[in-house]
Amino acid sequence: MKRFRRLRSDERIRSLVRETSIDKKDLIYPLFVTEGTGIKNPVESMPEIYQYSIDMLDEILDRIRKSGISGILIFGIPSHKDEKASEAYNPDGVTQKAVRYIKSKYPELIIITDVCLCEYTSHGHCGLISGDKILNDETLPLLSKMAVSLAEAGADIIAPSDMMDGRVKAIREALDMNNFKDIPIMSYSAKFASGYYSPFRDAANSAPCFGDRKSYQMDFSNGREALREIADDIEEGADIVMVKPALAYLDVLKSARERFDLPLAVYNVSGEYSMVKSAAQNGWIDEKRIVTENLIAMKRAGADIIITYHALDFAEWQEE
Ligand code: PBG
Ligand code: ZN
Repeated sequence: MKRFRRLRSDERIRSLVRETSIDKKDLIYPLFVTEGTGIKNPVESMPEIYQYSIDMLDEILDRIRKSGISGILIFGIPSHKDEKASEAYNPDGVTQKAVRYIKSKYPELIIITDVCLCEYTSHGHCGLISGDKILNDETLPLLSKMAVSLAEAGADIIAPSDMMDGRVKAIREALDMNNFKDIPIMSYSAKFASGYYSPFRDAANSAPCFGDRKSYQMDFSNGREALREIADDIEEGADIVMVKPALAYLDVLKSARERFDLPLAVYNVSGEYSMVKSAAQNGWIDEKRIVTENLIAMKRAGADIIITYHALDFAEWQEE
């Protein structure tokens, strides 16, 4: 008989042989910044998550800085949207202004900016459209312009989430040509067309007004294809690759960890957050236990970096 229980007998021994742990520095907190002033607007489908106008950001940024996590992933919510997503690459757009502000006042935080057009287009798709088709090649120059303008504003890492083919290469070339050779790209490489994004689309006002994203995001039935997407992004110049969502895709994360040497990020998305948070608020589950168990699972599967709406709560629990 093997006596596994010998190493489970008390917390000191369990902690001695524990295989996986999470460092606060592994965590990134997503932040929604909206145009206007005096706004702290609760996102109905995401308990305890808000849209902030730039003048209202200090409260959350102070909390982020104090928590000891590494940084933030910024999503801008412009008041003007059009067919060409003009505000996405406007040097004075809300996202660019937010980046400049945070960079000047909170230089110790890593600022990652999501690069995608869906928050900026009137139709809510991630690229330009013609009829009901989402155009791939025509979208690339706009994504590149957006990436350069965010780098100019002070972004530390550029994170394309649009899922157009060839965008990592296009963005890398544009950054290099504009003197941003040293700005890394964290690519949302294996991003699945997922039902888990719906609360985010409330938070970022980015729901497509017709159709869905299945013609550009991945089919969730496909695991091997995810590895081809990741391999291609690495070839195009990605410095960090991502799997998204997290919990229903830990198999993909694990295979990616085994196959590739690059830093690997996972995005624990809005729907995953809201399911846990709302059940916890109802008293149905123990929030700390469940969040810790989930985040450890992501780490155990191979994530180096975890983007999660639980980041602040989790980091603050470590201080208790
Ligand atoms: C933009 C983007 C989305 C998310 C991150 N970047 C939404 C989408 O693709 O529809 C989802 C994040 C989340 O659900 O928390 N393309
Ligand atoms: Zn998008």
